[in-house]
Amino acid sequence: MNNEKMRVVIIGCGRFSKFFVPLFKAHPVVEKVYVCDLKKERQQEYMEKFGVEGYESYEKALEDKSINAIAIFTQRFSHGRLVINALKAGKHVYSAVPCAVSIDEIKEIAKLVEETRLTYSMGETGAYRAPALFCRREFAKGTFGKFVYAEAHYNHDMSIMEDAFKSSGGDDWKKFAGVPPFFYPTHSTAMILSSMPGVYVTKVAAMGYEGSPRTDIFGRDGQNHYDNPFANEAMLVKLSNGGIARISENRCVGWRAPETYISQFYGTNGGYEFSVANHHLSTWDPERPGLVKMRRVTDELQPVEVSKMIKEDYDSAIQNISEGFGFYATSPIQPLDRLPKEYEGLGNGHNGTHHFLIDDFCRAFATGKLSPTNIWAVARYNIPGLVAHESALAGGVLMDVPDLGNPPADWEVLDYTK
Ligand SMILES: NC(=O)c1ccc[n+]([C@@H]2O[C@H](COP(=O)([O-])OP(=O)(O)OC[C@H]3O[C@@H](n4cnc5c(N)ncnc54)[C@H](O)[C@@H]3O)[C@@H](O)[C@H]2O)c1
Repeated sequence: MNNEKMRVVIIGCGRFSKFFVPLFKAHPVVEKVYVCDLKKERQQEYMEKFGVEGYESYEKALEDKSINAIAIFTQRFSHGRLVINALKAGKHVYSAVPCAVSIDEIKEIAKLVEETRLTYSMGETGAYRAPALFCRREFAKGTFGKFVYAEAHYNHDMSIMEDAFKSSGGDDWKKFAGVPPFFYPTHSTAMILSSMPGVYVTKVAAMGYEGSPRTDIFGRDGQNHYDNPFANEAMLVKLSNGGIARISENRCVGWRAPETYISQFYGTNGGYEFSVANHHLSTWDPERPGLVKMRRVTDELQPVEVSKMIKEDYDSAIQNISEGFGFYATSPIQPLDRLPKEYEGLGNGHNGTHHFLIDDFCRAFATGKLSPTNIWAVARYNIPGLVAHESALAGGVLMDVPDLGNPPADWEVLDYTK
């Protein structure tokens, strides 16, 4: 148990961290929240908006003994080194996704966390989305039997992504926007893998799609910093439990929302499917061999107001879902009673997942236990993507995926639901 209160510096005052400053401020474990950005006008805006103090720089925060935690909300390519230096400086670290864009950095983070026993938690929204919570619960209960096959997707067309890259990319934003989709694979991989704790990817073969009209962003003629021709990537993976999964990350696709979902999750005894608005569960019917019992489980997985509209006016519901209806709301399956009472009524996002992510970091900090999205868990979500990109560049060659193993046996992992 850590009797200290958290004094955290939030690094990056861009488009995303605004959702999280109020959650850090309200958490009972947190004593002081500072915000910091290289762009001082953004930092000033945050200070005024959220009534918090600014901090001079990331480097100064690492030197300051009174600061015991750092929360990284910088651009997606920069997390690895910032996390490593913060751990080396003895700080607990929260990081937005992805963990890092190189396997060596991910290994170094795991080594440092093991040596220092500091908290590291990656804010993976996919881990708390309703389909992941549902498949995790039903898999643990044995509803699916032995796992056989699943598919998960993260669809985010460049027309939606542009603003994220323009935010801090300046005139060079396209060079960052051309990042390989599999350098950011965790939303989709986490949904399947977190449903089966301890399971990891052993082999991967992947392909990339080169036909995007955005030849100004994707290509190998200097369009981007990554020499990446692929706007979309898909991988087929073999899992350590013998199952198979297909993951696709698409940045050129005529689809809006829901953006991250498990479309299928099958076992020997049952299966889950999602399509557009409705969630379904099938299980063998014990009284009628060869037939299954089909159940619509939408009411548990969609926010109450979304479920209601699906029943009353399906056409409006699916249009509204595609435009973000339910994005800020929680669903009945989400374990809200786990959260501090101070979070009631505070803003949320990504289908009601934000509160859980900050609470996981704070309770890991306070209890000394591991966050569910600890480094060993998230290495398993992140590394397959980095290898898959190599496989895609090599035309779909089957490759081994390194695994960093389970967390140390004497380090308890917090439960997603309690
Ligand atoms: N569903 C999700 O989990 C989800 C959704 C959106 C964004 N994200 C992640 O959140 C992160 C932030 O995204 P964003 O859209 O806010 O980016 P952004 O570009 O709008 O903001 C990043 C900010 O970090 C600042 N910064 C960079 N390096 C810094 C440093 N060393 N010290 C201080 N400030 C620094 C930049 O000046 C910029 O203002 C990204 O990594 C992204 O992947 C995750």
